[in-house]
Amino acid sequence: MNQIEIDDLNKHYGAYHALRDINLKIPAGSFVALIGPSGCGKSTLLRTIAGLEKFTGGTLRIAGEVMNTRPPRERDVAMVFQSYALYPHMDVERNMTYSLRLKRRPREEILERAKSAANTLGLTALLSRKPRELSGGQRQRVAMGRAIVRNPKVFLFDEPLSNLDAELRVRMRGEIRRLHERLGATSVYVTHDQIEAMTMADYVVVLRAGRIEQQGAPLDLYDRPANRFVAGFIGSPSMNFLPARVAEDGRTAILGEADGQRIDLGREVEPGREILVGMRPEHLQIRPASDATGLQATVELLESTGSMTFMEARLAGAPITVSQAGRMAAARGEPVRLQIDPENLRLFDPATEAAI
Ligand SMILES: Nc1ncnc2c1ncn2[C@@H]1O[C@H](COP(=O)(O)OP(=O)(O)OP(=O)(O)O)[C@@H](O)[C@H]1O
Ligand SMILES: [Mg+2]
Repeated sequence: MNQIEIDDLNKHYGAYHALRDINLKIPAGSFVALIGPSGCGKSTLLRTIAGLEKFTGGTLRIAGEVMNTRPPRERDVAMVFQSYALYPHMDVERNMTYSLRLKRRPREEILERAKSAANTLGLTALLSRKPRELSGGQRQRVAMGRAIVRNPKVFLFDEPLSNLDAELRVRMRGEIRRLHERLGATSVYVTHDQIEAMTMADYVVVLRAGRIEQQGAPLDLYDRPANRFVAGFIGSPSMNFLPARVAEDGRTAILGEADGQRIDLGREVEPGREILVGMRPEHLQIRPASDATGLQATVELLESTGSMTFMEARLAGAPITVSQAGRMAAARGEPVRLQIDPENLRLFDPATEAAI
């Protein structure tokens, strides 16, 4: 089986500590996304799995075998890069089969694998074209084809769709996922696009500054973020965070400083405790200003995409975003009421940022 097991992995670039105590088990055949902000170590971790980077401590196993010092060619992994890294002077077929020719595989086998990959990827008619004669999406497919022909245990993808336009990205997401299901190899997919990660992966790993902040099924991360960082990173638009203080009753909190609006927490929290109240834009419901219940806010800006409306508003002195399906009309400066089911509130400690 093609599982990947990473234990206490650390990586330094000179004095810079790029990966810190990474522990990760990727089951055989699963599709795992590595996400996090720029510079958090996603590519470094992927390149470490590929054997393109040495690490400074820990153990990496692929299919049960320790890979720590194995060169890339002995790891049976194939990598697809953001830049595609195609050879400009070779046609599609030669680009795809380069690694097989390097390994001196029999000619018939090379032809057979190239044909099969081209067929899978819809490249059959383009086999004799050079990369410059292809569209971005077609080049991306050739880069995929080059990985497929090797029939690897593990596919490693480093932001393979980031050079494509929005529509093509969405289409390729589905194609890569279907391909993964068909081939049954283990896939590790780096992206900074959390929607891509959420829609494609079985399992998502969130990295920040070289550490794993949280790992789990996509909806677990959305429903139960372990800390403020993950809560803000997963979900679009991002979760709103409002500072508040738990009231004497221990079940409500007072938002902001001067404003003093109360919010029902729906649970017991230590009275007097300072907290951050997290509210997802899609969980806030807009009610008319005349409504007696809910939180009082002021409209600052409305943006509509046609199917969705995003409202920027001010609540207890803080800017917040509200999203709602469909359309709405409201003018800048108009008061509105916002309601949220206490079950949808997420509470965080302002100092440690951990979920409460
Ligand atoms: N060869 C290197 N020498 C020194 N530092 C490096 C080297 N390669 C990467 N780094 C540093 O290690 C950190 C992680 O880099 P990495 O490329 O893994 O980030 P990333 O998460 O892939 O970011 P991005 O989303 O921008 O691609 C960064 O701070 C980067 O500057
Ligand atoms: Mg990167």
